[in-house]
Order: sequence, then C-alpha cells, then structure tokens
Amino acid sequence: MIKDQKILVLGANGKTGRRVVEKLNQQGCENIRMGSRSANPPFDWENPNTWEASLAGIDSVYITFQPDLAVPSAAETIQRFTKKASQLGITKMVLLSGRGEKEAQICEQIVMNTARHWTIVRASWFNQNFSESFFLEPIIAGHVALPRAEALEPFTDADDIADVAVQALLEDKHNGQIYELTGPRLLTFQQTIAEISKVTGREIKFEALSLEAYTSMLKQYQVPEDFIWLVNYLFSEVLDGRNASVTHDIEKVLGRKAKDFSEYASKLAPTGIWDVRS
Ligand SMILES: NC(=O)c1ccc[n+]([C@@H]2O[C@H](COP(=O)([O-])OP(=O)(O)OC[C@H]3O[C@@H](n4cnc5c(N)ncnc54)[C@H](OP(=O)(O)O)[C@@H]3O)[C@@H](O)[C@H]2O)c1
Repeated sequence: MIKDQKILVLGANGKTGRRVVEKLNQQGCENIRMGSRSANPPFDWENPNTWEASLAGIDSVYITFQPDLAVPSAAETIQRFTKKASQLGITKMVLLSGRGEKEAQICEQIVMNTARHWTIVRASWFNQNFSESFFLEPIIAGHVALPRAEALEPFTDADDIADVAVQALLEDKHNGQIYELTGPRLLTFQQTIAEISKVTGREIKFEALSLEAYTSMLKQYQVPEDFIWLVNYLFSEVLDGRNASVTHDIEKVLGRKAKDFSEYASKLAPTGIWDVRS
C-alpha cells in the first residue's frame, strides 16, 4: 500500500470522484489533489491549458472523463491527456469506463498503451443516477418516463466503484487488470422506480416511452443536442441486452458482496432526497 503517493482525482465533486477522495482521506492518504473546474488549480477537460498545473508533482491519477468516453472527441482528448500525464512523470492511471461501450474501449486501449501502470474499471449504470443525477428530478415530480423499459441492467453502487478505484490506486496487485463492476441483481427501470416508491411511500408513476418519443421530449425541454446524442447512444447501445448479466469483480477485489439496489434505496429514503420539495 502506497499511502504517501500524490494522487489527482478527476471529477472530484462527481459521483465516484467525491467518494474516492473521501475514502483516500479515510485511508490516511494526505496528498490528494482535487480535479475540478472550481479547484485551485482548476482542471477542465475542455481546456488543455489547465491540465499541466493539475498534473504537476502527481504520481497517480483517477480518470473520470466528461461527459462520456463514448463521445466522438473523447479518444483524441484522452490521447492528449495521457501523453501529457506520462511526460510529467505520472506512473499510474486508473480509468473509469463504461461497461459494454465499444467506443470507450478505444480510450481504454490508449490508457493501456500510454501509462506505465494502469487499471481499467468498467462500471454498469450507477445507483446514484437516481439520487445525484438526471433521474432525480422526475422521481421528485412523481412521474418517470423512460425508454427501454424492458432492459435489464445490473445497477452498481458508486460506493463500491470508489472502493475498487481506491484499491486500484493504492495496491500494485491491481496493475494491468480490467475490472467489470456490476451490482448483484438485474433490474428494469420500472423495478427500480417501484423500489423507490416502496421505500419512500410515495406514488411514483412509471411510463414506458419509445426512444424516439423520449428524445423528442428532451428536444422540447431544450436539452442540448450533444446530451441528447449521448442519451440516445446509452439507451440504444448499452441497454440492448449486452450488459444484462452480473459479474463478481467487486467481490473479487473487495472481499465482500456488491451493494444491492434495495439497500441503496432504503438507506437513502430517510434522508428525504426523494421527497416532494415544499
Ligand atoms: N453515471 C453512470 O451511470 C456511469 C456508468 C458507467 C460509467 N460512467 C462514466 O463515469 C464518468 C462520470 O460520469 P457521470 O456522468 O456519472 O459524472 P460524475 O462522475 O458525477 O461527474 C460530474 C462532475 O464532472 C465534472 N465536470 C463536468 N464537466 C467537466 C469538464 N469540462 N472538465 C472537468 N470536469 C468536468 C463536474 O465537476 P466540477 O463542476 O467540479 O468541475 C461534475 O461534478 C463518465 O466518463 C461516464 O461515462 C458513468
């Protein structure tokens, strides 16, 4: 375990990055640098001039890309970033990737070819999309309308992902490994919303939409085109059945079972996150 290494955590205010920072601190790691547009120095994927100051003096980096490794410009950005990081002496890169995204695998390959030591952490959809991201608002509104209602996904908890990322950053035995992280159970969107409805005691309506109807709804709400492209990609490609299986990599790395969606939902409900705002 290398606790005195200097670690840059990108997406340090995001769903997994925030937890990685907390968990590294709990492990006694004192040299953690936040990678965020609001940090000092700031880090912005869209402004390569910010990268060098964030990387200076760093040994290892946890890479969470924005918005997604599958977007067409990602490979070029990751190539440029990993080259810069290697030039500046970064020896270990832990990459958060998406499970079943073949475009993301091009970025994984770039990291594998460039970093001296690397670990790839491929994750399925996060539980926290329901509480820290785009599903939260419709849940509070009591009406969730989504495409691919029948798709089965093994939702993973961001805490488990962060625990694996921390192990990968601190333990050399994870070098050269590709992990596929899933939760312990396959669920449809309708089932996840039903679970949240049960633990909150609120009626939350679920409406199954076609992908076309969903994207035109997003257009009506004036959601930016590139976000609509990404949503369309994720719902049409990643949820086509290719990821409808569970893996045991969380247990393999952490020596304990992956967190189930029910545990996530029942622990979170009493915080009031899903309650109607007054
Ligand atoms: N969500 C999922 O279900 C899921 C599943 C598998 C893989 N992934 C992958 O995980 C990664 C993170 O995805 P996420 O959507 O869940 O986001 P996230 O980790 O919650 O990260 C959001 C953070 O990204 C930062 N950010 C936004 N634009 C940025 C930019 N231009 N430069 C630097 N930082 C920026 C923002 O922080 P600041 O405002 O502090 O800069 C924001 O807090 C993505 O690569 C995604 O493909 C996600």
